[in-house]
Formats: sequence, C-alpha cells, structure tokens
Amino acid sequence: MRLYIEHNERNDSDMELMQAILERRSVRQFLDEPIPDQDLRDIIDAARWAPSASNQQMWKFVIIKNKTILAQMSQLVIDKIDKLSVESGRAELHGAKSYSTFFNQAPVTISVFMKPYGKNKSEEAFRSLGYSEQEIQRLRGYVDIQSIGAAIQNILLAAHVKGYGTCWMCAPNIAAPEIEKLLEAEEPWQLKALIPLGRPAQIPKPTSRKALDEILEIIG
Ligand SMILES: Cc1cc2nc3c(=O)[nH]c(=O)nc-3n(C[C@H](O)[C@H](O)[C@H](O)COP(=O)(O)O)c2cc1C
Repeated sequence: MRLYIEHNERNDSDMELMQAILERRSVRQFLDEPIPDQDLRDIIDAARWAPSASNQQMWKFVIIKNKTILAQMSQLVIDKIDKLSVESGRAELHGAKSYSTFFNQAPVTISVFMKPYGKNKSEEAFRSLGYSEQEIQRLRGYVDIQSIGAAIQNILLAAHVKGYGTCWMCAPNIAAPEIEKLLEAEEPWQLKALIPLGRPAQIPKPTSRKALDEILEIIG
C-alpha cells in the first residue's frame, strides 16, 4: 500500500475515507516548505464539522508559523521537563524532550484550545449532591475532551488527504500554563494538544495495532 500521495498527484476526489484512516501516520520530521493558508483553512474547516457534546464546539485553533514563537514554546517544554526531572530526581525524564518538542521543526503548528464543557443540568444535580468534580467527569464521560479528540482526528485526516504529515502531541501539555501565557490565551481556554504539520521529510513505517478480535466484542 502506498503511504502518501504526492500532493501534485492528488485529484479532487481525494482518497477514500478508509484508505486515509489506514494510511495516516504520526509524522515527526518535516520539510521546511511554507503551507498555503487556504490549505490550513480547509483543514480547520474539517475540525469545525466534528461532532461535539451538545454541539458546544468547545474548541479554538491557533496556528503558529512564527519560528521564534515555536522556539519559545519548545523551550518552555524543555524548562518544565528539566524542573520536573530535578524536583522528582528522575533523570530519565530528559529522554522525553525529543518526543515533546519536535513541533518546532514543522513549518506550522496548530495549537488546540478547549473551553471546559459549560453548565449542564445533570452535572449541577450531581454537584448539589456533593459529588466531586472527578466523579462528575467520570459519570459525564469527559465530553469536552472527547469532542476535542474528534476535532483533532478530523484535522489529522484532512491534512493527510492533502499530502501533509501531522502528529497529535500531548507531551507539550506539561508546559500548558506557560504556553497559554505566551500565546495570550484568555480564560477559560486551555491548551490540550499541539499538531505540527508539514510535508513529511520521510514516510514513517506503520505502527502495530491490536487484533480486531482483541478489542471487539459483539453482544448479541
Ligand atoms: C492523545 C495523544 C497524544 C499523543 N502525544 C504524542 C506526543 O506528545 N509526542 C509524539 O511524538 N507522539 C504523540 N502521539 C502519537 C502517538 O505516539 C501515535 O499516534 C501512536 O504511536 C500510533 O502511531 P501512528 O499515529 O503513526 O499510527 C500522541 C497520540 C495521541 C492520540
């Protein structure tokens, strides 16, 4: 199976959805080519059409092209890893740096912000009965996080069919408060993921998956 279609080979029918799902890979090395704004707009448009709990669309996307800002963001992540490593006495945490900071090598990085799910009647009922916030989230199913995940997956697939590589990154969240400050995010917006995007410098090998029968149970 071919992993990527060259963008100039692509025609407007795009790939079949299942093919795109199967071919998408996490890309961690990018060519330094500028990305047309219209492509970025199309990709975020796919996120816009993701389902969300009560259709609250509790997401916002800030695309960063500025290399200085990307470098500052990755430095914040490095500083936070260093701090955690020193304070916890766990030197092995330094190994997380490359997994957490390569977004600064991409021509653009999409930062995904979430507004926590607004007031909800059952949540308020639980709260009035003294349930903890953690219990309430458990019983509600973290619907805001689930909604953001749907939007992110749409971004990855929409980018892939345009010939771009992406990587869904949560490791940089270790410095979420500092990055939110740098990007001047306003309350109540929270950084939930970064998605570096660009033409892949190399095609990653497919990662393994559990067998279908290991994860699927049909109760008749
Ligand atoms: C919620 C989430 C967070 C992730 N965070 C990171 C990350 O911080 N850094 C990274 O290199 N990959 C990250 N990944 C990518 C996973 O490592 C990758 O999806 C997985 O290994 C499967 O490989 P594939 O995406 O190529 O199929 C993340 C993926 C998800 C869904």
